[in-house]
Amino acid sequence: MGLRNRIAHVSMTTMLATGGRVTDRLIQYHANRASGGAAMTITEPLGTAPHQATLPRVQVWNDSDSDALKRWADAVETQDCRLIGQIQDAGRGRHAPGRNPEAIGASARPDDLSWTMPHVLTTDEIFSLVANIAQSAQRLQRCGWSGTEISAGHGHLFHQFLSPWSNVRTDAYGGDWHARARIVVELVAEIRALCGPRFIIGLKLPVDDGVPNSIGPAEAAIVADILTTGKNVDYVCFAGGAHARTLEMHVPDRYGPPMPYMPVIKKLRHATNGVPVMALGRITDPAEADGILARGEAALIGLGRPLVADPAWPRKTANGRVWDIRYCLSCNTCWGAIVMQHRAIACVNNPRVALPDEVDFWPQRTTTPKRIIVVGAGIAGMEAAWVAAARGHQVTLFGRSPEPGGKARLRALLPGGETISSIYDYQTGAAHRAGVDLELGVTANLENIMARQPDAVILATGSTMLSPDWLPASVQSENLVPNLRDAMQEIIRHTQRQPGTAVIFDMDHTEATYAAAEALHARFSRVVIITPRDTIATDVQMVTRQGIFRRMADKRITTIPLAEPRWSAACEDGKLEYANVYNGDTGVIEDVAFLTYATPRVPNDALVAPLRAAGVAVHLVGDCLSPQELLSATATGHAVGCAV
Ligand SMILES: Cc1cc2nc3c(=O)[nH]c(=O)nc-3n(C[C@H](O)[C@H](O)[C@H](O)COP(=O)(O)O)c2cc1C
Repeated sequence: MGLRNRIAHVSMTTMLATGGRVTDRLIQYHANRASGGAAMTITEPLGTAPHQATLPRVQVWNDSDSDALKRWADAVETQDCRLIGQIQDAGRGRHAPGRNPEAIGASARPDDLSWTMPHVLTTDEIFSLVANIAQSAQRLQRCGWSGTEISAGHGHLFHQFLSPWSNVRTDAYGGDWHARARIVVELVAEIRALCGPRFIIGLKLPVDDGVPNSIGPAEAAIVADILTTGKNVDYVCFAGGAHARTLEMHVPDRYGPPMPYMPVIKKLRHATNGVPVMALGRITDPAEADGILARGEAALIGLGRPLVADPAWPRKTANGRVWDIRYCLSCNTCWGAIVMQHRAIACVNNPRVALPDEVDFWPQRTTTPKRIIVVGAGIAGMEAAWVAAARGHQVTLFGRSPEPGGKARLRALLPGGETISSIYDYQTGAAHRAGVDLELGVTANLENIMARQPDAVILATGSTMLSPDWLPASVQSENLVPNLRDAMQEIIRHTQRQPGTAVIFDMDHTEATYAAAEALHARFSRVVIITPRDTIATDVQMVTRQGIFRRMADKRITTIPLAEPRWSAACEDGKLEYANVYNGDTGVIEDVAFLTYATPRVPNDALVAPLRAAGVAVHLVGDCLSPQELLSATATGHAVGCAV
C-alpha cells in the first residue's frame, strides 16, 4: 500500500465515542485530519475484546456497529488516507483515583500510580485474547479499514508483558526477552494470518520507559529487533514513559526540549530490520519534520497534538503556508480534557476541534455587518476580534498595552511559556488579514467607546487577583506585597541574583504559579510556597503536575501545605509567620526578601453596567466572563466572535 506523503496522525484518544459506539463527530475528527493532508490516521484504542465492553471506546469485537465502522472508513479512505485502528489494553495501568477491579496483567505486580493489582492472565486467556483481537482486526478490514496499530508502549498491557520489571512469569510468556515478546509476536502472526499481506500492521513500542530495571534505550533495541525479525509488521513507532512517575514522558511538554525521543529513535532505526520507523514526539514545526526526513532518521512523521491544534498542518506546509499554521503549544490541555475531565478532546489553539468546518477554518460572512468594539488585546479579545472581523463586521480593538497578547505575553517569558506566543502571533496575523483596526496603547473608557457608536461591545478586560485576607488593608493600599502577576512583570526585568527567600502564597494552583516559582528560583537563594491546600498544583492535570513536582524537587523549592501566613510586625524584619489552617500551630520563615500571592481572580467588568445603561449590547469573554485557563479564553472569544 502506498501513502500519498509521509505524515501520519498518531493515536489520540478523543472521548468522542458515545456508549461504545462511533459518533458522527468522531468520524468528522478523522475525516478532518485526512482532508488536512495526513496520509494515514491512527484511531484511538478500540474495544477489540469482550472484556473491554464497558470502556468508553468504540467496540469492534462484534458486528453491532459495523455500519458505522464502514462509514468511518469511507470518510477517511476516500480522501486517500489510510485508516488504522489502534489495539490497546491498559492492563493494570490506571491514572484516575481508585483501583481498577477489572484489570488484567502479565504478573501480580501493582500499577505504579494506582496500585491496581491485575488479574494474571492464564495461557488459555492469552490465547483467547489474541484470537479475539485478531478477529476484531479482520472485522475492521471487512469494514474497509487499511490496518491496525498494536500499542505495546506507554506502559500498557503489552508493554507490561515486554518489561522484565512487570513480567515475572515462569511460563512460555515470561523469562527472557523472546518469551516476554511472545504475546506480541503471536498477535501479529494471528492478525497477518487472518488479514493477509495487504493489511497494515504497525507497532507502537517503548523508546525508554524511565522505570528502573525495565526498558531503557538498550532494551528498546532488543525488543524492536525481536518484533521486526521476519518483517511481519509494516512500520514501528516509539514513544516514552510508562504508567509510573514517568507518565509525563507519554506526552512531552513545553518544559522540555523539542523532539525529545529523536536522539534514541535515530539509533533504534538500526534495530528494526529495515521495517520503516515513524518518528513522533513533539515534532511541531514542519522544518523539524523535514530535517528528520532529510537526515534519514525516520521514514514517517507521526503528529498527534500538532494535528489536534491544526489538522491542515500538512496541507498548509505543502502549499507554502507554514506561517498560517496554528501551532501546538505542548501544553497538554487536550490530555487534561480527555483523561482528567472525561470530556471531548479540546485545544487551546483550536476552538473548532472535530467540527465540519474545522480544516483551514475561515468564517462565513455575515449578512448583517455591525460596528463592534473589542476591549482588551489578550488572547480572548484577539480571538473574538479576528473572527468577528473575518465575518465582515467592522471591528475596532482597544488594547491598553502596546502589543497584543495581554497576560499570555507575560506567561511567555516565564519557564515553559515560549510556545504560548503561537496563540497571539496567529491571532495577530489573522486580525490583520481580517481588517481589525488595532488601537493599541489606548485605555478604553465609556467616552471613547461610545464615540465610535458601536452596535456591540465585547469586553475582554481580564481579571485581577484578590488580596488575601491575611494582608492588612494598610499594606494592601500601599501595594507593598504585589500579586504574582504584577510581581513577575518586575522580576523578569532583573537578571541579578539576590540573597534571601522568595515566598509565594498559593491559592491559585494553576501551572503559571509554578513557572513563576522557577523564575524566582533563578533570582533568589530559596523559594517557598505556602498553600492552604494539602499539596500544590491541584488544578493542574496529572502529566503536567508530575513535571511540576519533578522540577520543584530538583530545584529544592519547598512547600508548606495546609498553612496561611500571618502578618505581624516581624514581617518588617524579614520574618514571615504562618499558621496551620486546622490547628493554628505556627512556624516562621526567616530571611524573607520577597513576598507575593497568587489568588482567585475577580473579573475586571466595571464597564459592563455603564455600557448597558447606555443601551449597548455587551458580551463578555475570557477572564472577564469567568477567570479560568487559556482554553476558556480562546474558546469564549471564538464563540462570541462567531455569534455576535
Ligand atoms: C490527548 C492525548 C491522547 C492520547 N491518546 C493516545 C492513545 O489513545 N493511544 C496512544 O497510543 N497514544 C496516545 N497519545 C500519545 C500520542 O499518540 C503521542 O505518542 C504523543 O502525544 C506524542 O506525540 P505528539 O507530540 O505529536 O503529540 C495521546 C496523547 C494525547 C496528548
